[in-house]
Amino acid sequence: MNDIQWYPGHMTKAKRMMQENIKMIDVIAELIDARVPMSSKNPDIEDMARHKPRMILFNKIDLADSTETKKWVKWYEEKGFAVIQVNSKTGQGVQQFIDKARLLCKEKIERDKKRGLINRPIRTMVVGIPNVGKSTFINKLVGKASAKTGNKPGVTKGKQWIKLKKDVELLDTPGILWPKFEDQTMGKNLACIGSIKDDLIDTVELAVSLLEYLKEHYPELIIKKYQLETIAEKESYQILEAIALARNLKKPGNTLDLLRASNRLLEEFRNGKLGAVTLEIVK
Ligand code: G4P
Repeated sequence: MNDIQWYPGHMTKAKRMMQENIKMIDVIAELIDARVPMSSKNPDIEDMARHKPRMILFNKIDLADSTETKKWVKWYEEKGFAVIQVNSKTGQGVQQFIDKARLLCKEKIERDKKRGLINRPIRTMVVGIPNVGKSTFINKLVGKASAKTGNKPGVTKGKQWIKLKKDVELLDTPGILWPKFEDQTMGKNLACIGSIKDDLIDTVELAVSLLEYLKEHYPELIIKKYQLETIAEKESYQILEAIALARNLKKPGNTLDLLRASNRLLEEFRNGKLGAVTLEIVK
């Protein structure tokens, strides 16, 4: 597979803005995609948010393999993160955010009290790489009942604090982190979940590599979805051909249209139609 790289020009500015925002924040909640709990986490936030209470939100839990999610949640908790599992589409788990934020700020609130600072709200912010569900999460968390509290000094123009509860506020705009990966597998994982745009990658190669993984870890899902008889003896490329055949995806001249088959497979993986899959295994 060709190297997937991503060099967005606006990221330096985004990073600077994020650093500015972080100064005002008490709790940083990083949204990750539960299907790729390692690749969808941006390691740079570790430096930017040092000493701040941190929450990891496993989003899209409906799309991930729950057995693997449990192991990953434990892994992150052991590293000292507060974790909540959410499905931002349905709202499952979303409201835990407020209690978790309070819990993470307990000591800070006590300290503030001793210094005579009372009723200072806990300020929170959601961050994450593209497509992990930040906007969906915020919309669910905020709901219709919320009220915006208006601009405050120091907040980047246009940004507002949303009052979630009397004592908890949320920055209305999520911080967009850049997808970052140390190796090609992580790059492919990010491409599979749609966090790297498809026009930067070869979708047929990506589909073949996804099939390679699915064949090893979730063969029954492919067999069931595309009504294939068996895939054990097939190479991943041949499975892709079988999918094209099963879906009758052909080019003029009656040859199999592997590009459309790849796009179909990726789309079905992304929206969960293939079934619950986790692409990374806890080591
Ligand atoms: P972002 O701000 O982080 O970039 O992500 P955004 O909220 O736009 O969500 C990206 C896609 O992920 C959306 O799908 C959204 O519906 C979906 N999504 C977010 N959270 C969840 C979740 O917990 N479970 C599932 N299954 N999907 C989730 P889309 O295809 O872009 O739009 P649409 O399907 O909502 O029309």
